[in-house]
Amino acid sequence: MCGIVAIVGRDAVAQRLFDGLKRLEYRGYDSAGICTVHDGQFERQRAEGKLDNLAAKLREDRPEGTIGIAHTRWATHGAPTEGNAHPHIVGPVALVHNGIIENFKPLRDELIEQGRQFQSETDSEVVAHLVACEVEGGSSPEEAVATVLPRLHGAFAMSFLFRDHPDLVIGARMGAPLTVGYGQGENYLGSDAIALAPWTRHIAYLDEGDWVVARRDGVQIFDRSNQPVTREIVDSGATAEVISKGNHAHFMRKEIFEQPIVVAQTLQSYVRPFEGEVAIPAFDFDLGSVDRVTIVACGTSFYAGMVAKYWFERFARVPVDLDVASEFRYRDPVLEPGGLALFISQSGETADTLAALRHAREQGQKIAVVVNVPTSSMAREADLLLPTRAGPEIGVASTKAFTCQLAVLAALAANFARSRGRMTREEEREIVAHLQEAPEALTRALNHDEDIGAMAHLVAPARDVLYLGRGPDYPMALEGALKLKEISYIHAEGYAAGEMKHGPIALIDDQVPVIVLAPSGPLFEKTVSNMQEVRARGGRIILISDAEGIAAAGDGCIATIEMPKVHPLIAPLVYAVPVQLLAYHVAVLKGTDVDQPRNLAKSVTVE
Ligand code: F6R
Repeated sequence: MCGIVAIVGRDAVAQRLFDGLKRLEYRGYDSAGICTVHDGQFERQRAEGKLDNLAAKLREDRPEGTIGIAHTRWATHGAPTEGNAHPHIVGPVALVHNGIIENFKPLRDELIEQGRQFQSETDSEVVAHLVACEVEGGSSPEEAVATVLPRLHGAFAMSFLFRDHPDLVIGARMGAPLTVGYGQGENYLGSDAIALAPWTRHIAYLDEGDWVVARRDGVQIFDRSNQPVTREIVDSGATAEVISKGNHAHFMRKEIFEQPIVVAQTLQSYVRPFEGEVAIPAFDFDLGSVDRVTIVACGTSFYAGMVAKYWFERFARVPVDLDVASEFRYRDPVLEPGGLALFISQSGETADTLAALRHAREQGQKIAVVVNVPTSSMAREADLLLPTRAGPEIGVASTKAFTCQLAVLAALAANFARSRGRMTREEEREIVAHLQEAPEALTRALNHDEDIGAMAHLVAPARDVLYLGRGPDYPMALEGALKLKEISYIHAEGYAAGEMKHGPIALIDDQVPVIVLAPSGPLFEKTVSNMQEVRARGGRIILISDAEGIAAAGDGCIATIEMPKVHPLIAPLVYAVPVQLLAYHVAVLKGTDVDQPRNLAKSVTVE
């Protein structure tokens, strides 16, 4: 979603605010702006489109001043125009906002009735007006913010700047992240610690409902009842290097290539290789007593959950319900008290998943969370926290977080199986050995990068592409299709291979590439039969399989991608690589913006 940076600093802030936005650009990139206070006036620069447009404007005319706020936007209310770009200035108040003010309409009507005029179509501007009304009526900035916050419904992280207070930034959070950075004689606010990394690693994460008063010489945090509170200052561990592309042309490529290392790193927390055991953190709940698991997530994380459903049911014989988070609450699912609800998220801030988590808790569920950002809202609300250790994922298309999620979920499946008496010690030892093979298998899959690049021209001209798989390769087909559509803008669908004959096969002609994921194994023959049905109708097939599978069924395909032969448990991790690389190379060939595809944002903090 949107990204926020604020500095109450010692020297000129405009360039640093811009640099902070650069590190947050993955969160949203349809317009951006900065505002400072200088000589008792606001100085603002805003631009539509990517940050480069703002950079060009800043070269012409850069706001001066040692205090400022900045924003990179992912539009919700109002088109991504300069007029709707943040910061919004209303009288003595400037504001940047991430999230949605759900009751903005009655608030706006009320303000219009009072004669106030709006300059933008955004929901955010009502907040600037409300605070400005209070300040103009004689309230201090702190009183104004404290009065207005309880009137707002929805999700937000915000920063305010006050024209007549050149030593003050106020921030607030409810449902969207905001961190406080502590510097030497200056202080900062940011949507995440990465934004602040070059200036400080001393970070406090605000709790829901907190608001913060930041001055050069100190920071004071208040809770939702306006009581002063202390939030622990931690070392964020964020460094400028983790957010560089290294030698890679794109973050996405770098992150795809990091997978062997980060999967190994993640597995270290979940397996004891010498003992041949999986090791899930202690938890005041006996996994063996769980008789139903509810898995909820969005997008790529949902597909990780779908793979987990196969694993949990197969290995642990535990029934699993699976839902996309945006549907979960609204279908009012039946949740038996004491059940386990498992949420999967890279960011830990996805509004739909977070709302689903809170709903599940209200329904008496124990909450387990597989999450990549250990300081996120979901991590903090978990009973059982299962962190992935993928490191910051900057490319908007999720890659390494996904394979790390799969690694954790495979270990969790084995743990379930053991706790439910469904797995012998010998079988557990075998599973651990297979999991330990994953990083090397991922490296071998990555060795096909060049071959996959060379076949991108087979897919790039297509208008539609189908991905087929069976069993756990079905969610992988869905994931492959999602990767392709989001970064190359080619329409793609994933199908259970056996489902083709019930309708979608009508789409097949010689213009439609069909990507078949079929590792040799129990489902191979059935998948290949479905593949032949497609081929008989002129479909152009790219087969992703191992040497055995390609030898058996590769003839007549327009291309094949050979994966190492691996145990079915780790096949989904390994087969993630070719679908990621194919999408990547097709997007590069088409010249789209791989790391920041149109209309998307990395962390979706609106419902
Ligand atoms: C796709 C992608 C999205 C996310 C989804 C959930 O490449 O990245 O589909 O997976 O928005 O985000 P998280 O995992 O942060 O909850």
